[in-house]
Amino acid sequence: MSQSHRRLFHALLSVLLLAASAVADNTLTQSRPIGGDQKLVSLGDVFQLGLFSTANNTKWFLGIWFTVSPAAVVWVANRDRPLNTSSGVVALSDRGNLVLLDAASNNETIWSSNSSSLAIPGAVAQLHDDGNLVLADAAGAVLWQSFEHPTNTFISGMRSGRNLTTGALWSLSSWRSADDPSAGDYRYVMDTQGSPEHELWSKGRKTYRTGPWNGVRFSGVPEMTSFEDMFEFQFTNNADEVSYVYHNRDGSALSRVVLNESGVMQRMVWDRTALTWNNFWSGPRDQCDTYGLCGAFGGVCDMGDAVVCGCIRGFMPGSPAEWRMRNASGGCARSTPLQCAGGDGFYVLRGVKLPETHGSTVDGGATLAECGRRCLSNCNCTAYAASDIRGGGTGCIQWFGDLMDTRYVDDGQDLFVRLAKSDLEPTKTKKFVAVITAVILGFALLLLLLGFMIWRKARHSKEVTMFDEIMRGECPTYDFGIIRAATGGFCPKNVVGRGGFGIVYKGKMPDGQEVAVKKLSAENRVQGLKEFKNEVDLIAKLQHRNLVRLLGCCIQGSERILVYEYMSNRSLDAFIFDSRRRASLSWKTRMDVILGVARGLVYLHQDSRHTMIHRDLKAANVLLDGEMVAKISDFGIAKLFSSTGDDRVDSTVTDRIVGTYGYMSPEYAMDGMVSFMQDVYSFGVLQLEIVSGRRNQRSFNLIAHAWKLFEENKSLELLDSTVRDGCSPAELEQAVTCIQVGLLCVQESPSRRPQMAAVIPMLSHQQTLVRPLRPVVCLPVTAPAGLLHVLEVTSGRGGLTITGLEGR
Ligand SMILES: *[C@@H]1O[C@H](CO)[C@@H](O)[C@H](O)[C@H]1NC(C)=O
Ligand SMILES: *[C@@H]1O[C@H](CO)[C@@H](O)[C@H](O)[C@H]1NC(C)=O
Ligand SMILES: *[C@@H]1O[C@H](CO)[C@@H](O)[C@H](O)[C@H]1NC(C)=O
Ligand SMILES: *[C@@H]1O[C@H](CO)[C@@H](O)[C@H](O)[C@H]1NC(C)=O
Ligand SMILES: *[C@@H]1O[C@H](CO)[C@@H](O)[C@H](O)[C@H]1NC(C)=O
Ligand SMILES: *[C@@H]1O[C@H](CO)[C@@H](O)[C@H](O)[C@H]1NC(C)=O
Ligand SMILES: *[C@@H]1O[C@H](CO)[C@@H](O)[C@H](O)[C@H]1NC(C)=O
Ligand SMILES: *[C@@H]1O[C@H](CO)[C@@H](O)[C@H](O)[C@H]1NC(C)=O
Repeated sequence: MSQSHRRLFHALLSVLLLAASAVADNTLTQSRPIGGDQKLVSLGDVFQLGLFSTANNTKWFLGIWFTVSPAAVVWVANRDRPLNTSSGVVALSDRGNLVLLDAASNNETIWSSNSSSLAIPGAVAQLHDDGNLVLADAAGAVLWQSFEHPTNTFISGMRSGRNLTTGALWSLSSWRSADDPSAGDYRYVMDTQGSPEHELWSKGRKTYRTGPWNGVRFSGVPEMTSFEDMFEFQFTNNADEVSYVYHNRDGSALSRVVLNESGVMQRMVWDRTALTWNNFWSGPRDQCDTYGLCGAFGGVCDMGDAVVCGCIRGFMPGSPAEWRMRNASGGCARSTPLQCAGGDGFYVLRGVKLPETHGSTVDGGATLAECGRRCLSNCNCTAYAASDIRGGGTGCIQWFGDLMDTRYVDDGQDLFVRLAKSDLEPTKTKKFVAVITAVILGFALLLLLLGFMIWRKARHSKEVTMFDEIMRGECPTYDFGIIRAATGGFCPKNVVGRGGFGIVYKGKMPDGQEVAVKKLSAENRVQGLKEFKNEVDLIAKLQHRNLVRLLGCCIQGSERILVYEYMSNRSLDAFIFDSRRRASLSWKTRMDVILGVARGLVYLHQDSRHTMIHRDLKAANVLLDGEMVAKISDFGIAKLFSSTGDDRVDSTVTDRIVGTYGYMSPEYAMDGMVSFMQDVYSFGVLQLEIVSGRRNQRSFNLIAHAWKLFEENKSLELLDSTVRDGCSPAELEQAVTCIQVGLLCVQESPSRRPQMAAVIPMLSHQQTLVRPLRPVVCLPVTAPAGLLHVLEVTSGRGGLTITGLEGR
């Protein structure tokens, strides 16, 4: 062999050896046990397997953890039987079992996978990049895998649920304490009876339910929608298995779902910049999630300042004395016994987490209408609901006994509760309508021909209201007298806000609930009564954590009044533009506000049934509740002034007031073009205002200022100096990202701006950012004081609408 050949041979050999050792790194063979500080490392170095210790090195365990975050242990083998020293040896026995031996104690078996009892030569255990440790025989058939034996953590690709053939359960149990991975007091299991759902158990008691899977998410976890862009949820329900699994959409993202030692489910995502785990969701979310807190047929718990239990309509506290002592666990009893078949109807409880389905029957093939008929014809059926919310609701869940653990949630579902017809009798206003109808009917007897026509009309409208009541429910109507009393006769000292749409009063209802009462100004009103009511119903159905909830309306003569939940911290502009109060808004709070507004807008823009452009997003329209959660207000209000419903695409000329100086996109200000991108623009401006604590106005063009600093690579100078010093490097990084996203949103061309749904991943570093183009910094001066008078030519759903513009 020549010198050069020999050199080549050596080079080749070393490459082969290197490759061999790299391959061996993630694989355990029968001939090569590991021990001490040796580890298996998955190919991409995402996960590691080895011994780790807790309690000051007095307890040792075999586990799998994230390489970037060794404290994030995702799986533990010998959780109930620790080693006292690091003397553990991980080996594959001749019988093909993965075992943990104690070398300090005669190789005693501390733990075994118990996967086989036959001799299996050539078995290997391999740690995969998804965190799964897979034990396979020489032919590659899987003998055992760690994903089938969860401890306290689910990671992407790991199933939760049950193998119906073997009965094997994939569930979590918490660690006993941060030092002790042995099974603690909490378990998180899927209940596969009825409509499958996850349940949290504490010391043998059920403490929380996620609500059943509804085709899209778990009924009581509306937040799942907000991270659909990051995770894909997959639910399987067939003869072999009932299971739920999530997958990271971005293959390189790291995430985990942990049942922690305090009995809280936490969904966390690794932040590569800040090198921390960010909490995306935790459940139970609040005290209202406590299982059975309000008892049978109760619940309907709402989280204002305090937990409030109530009874579903048609039910009364079973034990009023206990209820008065704030013990509602006894639940509620029916006011009127069911009459069975003909004598009953259904009341629609809207926007709830469905009650416990353990004893329910489920038929995915039925339609909702069929479900209603089935339930009505079975006297034992107490309620029904769609089992799948897609396509407007299909499938059928029927309940047969008590309804347990129902609560209101954002974006909840409709539950049809069986009541005796007399309990369905509508409220005062309905009685009023009924009286009027009776009078008209009497009149009809006198004037036969005319009466006949009026009677037909009345019957028609009566049918419509009955149908509404039973099948659709509606937004509550408030009595004008009550509203007037609540606001002290619309007393000026109760005024909390004023805008183009009317005056806002703070009010206190007779039951003590604080509300915001918006009296719409008369001059802009075009809509008819019925259209107005329809719109209010529609808007009241939009429910989201980041939208202010519309509680109802009141129509009296020419007065149109909207009643909202009251936001104790009022509006964002009172914070960010106030030289003293803005210092109290930490960067974290600001970021939460930005993300909250973004989520609210995504919901408005994308909710399939009622997509909506806000048109007047600004700091004054972002309200803050007691916990500084941002809620968008005044959404849909522009629609209340239109003279046609949304479905009719008339070319009616419409008067509207829209937009506020400083937040108006150039294409809208100049050409009156209305699209979702108008909201994106306003959101961009708002974001820059929140970061800087300065208002975009005539005397100070914030966008131009932000752009100049951005171009000079000095974006951080835009950050409000009252928070800058308190920011960590990661937070400063976040602020820079926010500014860049803000500049992307205010680009001149609407098509270059990101969709709202893309903004959230951008803000959370899930997406690389493109460089924004120079914004148009000179806003045209079209109309004074920010109010524009617009002629609408067409109105289309979701799409682009072109409107003409008139100066006022
Ligand atoms: C761990 O052990 C060291 C040395 O024995 C001791 O100083 C320290 O306090 C211990 N820490 C804990 C948390 O027990
Ligand atoms: C660990 O130490 C405890 C107490 O010192 C002892 O009872 C136990 O047998 C030891 N376990 C092992 C596996 O050596
Ligand atoms: C324990 O097992 C290891 C690895 O299989 C082996 O090298 C060692 O000799 C064994 N020790 C005893 C005491 O059997
Ligand atoms: C394996 O079997 C032994 C003996 O039946 C048992 O004590 C141990 O808990 C089993 N290990 C696992 C991981 O199931
Ligand atoms: C359930 O267990 C059986 C028997 O071990 C197995 O054949 C089947 O593949 C398992 N099903 C699932 C979905 O894991
Ligand atoms: C469990 O999670 C909750 C919610 O994120 C958190 O407040 C709590 O501190 C966690 N408990 C532990 C022990 O980590
Ligand atoms: C609450 O009421 C239930 C039944 O109505 C009763 O069993 C329970 O003891 C009460 N709890 C308290 C704390 O009084
Ligand atoms: C209703 O429930 C009663 C008592 O549980 C039972 O005897 C009866 O068969 C049920 N009826 C139907 C139609 O399921």
